[in-house]
Amino acid sequence: MAPVDQKQPAPDAPLHVAIVMDGNGRWAKRRGLPRQVGHPKGVDAIRRVVEAAPDQGVRWLTLYAFSTENWRRPAGEVAEVMRLLKLYVNSDLDKLAREGVRVRILGRRDGLPPDIAEIVERAERQTAHNDRFFLQVAFNYGGRADLVDAARALAKEAAEGRLDPETIDEDAVSRRLSTGGTPDPDLVIRTSGEQRLSNFLLWETAYSEFVFQDVLWPDYNAAYLHAAIEEFQKRERRYGGAVADDVLAAG
Ligand code: IPE
Ligand code: IPE
Ligand code: MG
Repeated sequence: MAPVDQKQPAPDAPLHVAIVMDGNGRWAKRRGLPRQVGHPKGVDAIRRVVEAAPDQGVRWLTLYAFSTENWRRPAGEVAEVMRLLKLYVNSDLDKLAREGVRVRILGRRDGLPPDIAEIVERAERQTAHNDRFFLQVAFNYGGRADLVDAARALAKEAAEGRLDPETIDEDAVSRRLSTGGTPDPDLVIRTSGEQRLSNFLLWETAYSEFVFQDVLWPDYNAAYLHAAIEEFQKRERRYGGAVADDVLAAG
């Protein structure tokens, strides 16, 4: 028998995987270290997953890095997360660009410190022509804020006479979200044992499959991603319809 080609994804691998990367603080606390020590370890896990995802058949990867609610954390921790975003882009952007990765940052741009806004724009500009793999990083992102911004955009267009309110449909809303143009996530993973969305992709996850993994984000690796994808492949997605076999049995 021919050896199994590890790079050959199963036919029904999820095309879009979204991850709530949770547990950096607990990872540090368990070692008796200050919470923020967990965040650079979290960046190492990001690198492992970005490396592994394309080989596992994933084409879009969306990572929840900083929520609109995370500003409530102590200033020192917020500053550390900002520093790490800058460091990640400065050290990894050239490699990502060379490898054909297109980077997109989801979330509100106003409210970001100017140096962070600049780095976000640079990451998008430098990779704008790539299409081998799509990496979306949700930063200063909130699902509700994103829906509010889409509603505002629609209202503005209608008020200016550029949009007939009667023509607003689901697609019109989707296109105005910061994920506009991206297919909805097939699989949402959350690490650390918490089982909630915490304001992540509220609209886009209407029919996503959820896998919760009992691992703290800094310990995440290709094997955990593989396990989550295997779990996804056992699921049966129905989108409100009936299972094909049952329809046949019912005549
Ligand atoms: C996720 O890990 C990273 C960010 C939200 C920036 P946490 O920092 O939330 O880790 P825990 O949940 O406190 O362990
Ligand atoms: C969600 O995690 C946000 C990110 C992973 C960036 P949190 O740790 O902020 O969520 P809660 O507070 O446990 O709901
Ligand atoms: Mg957390």
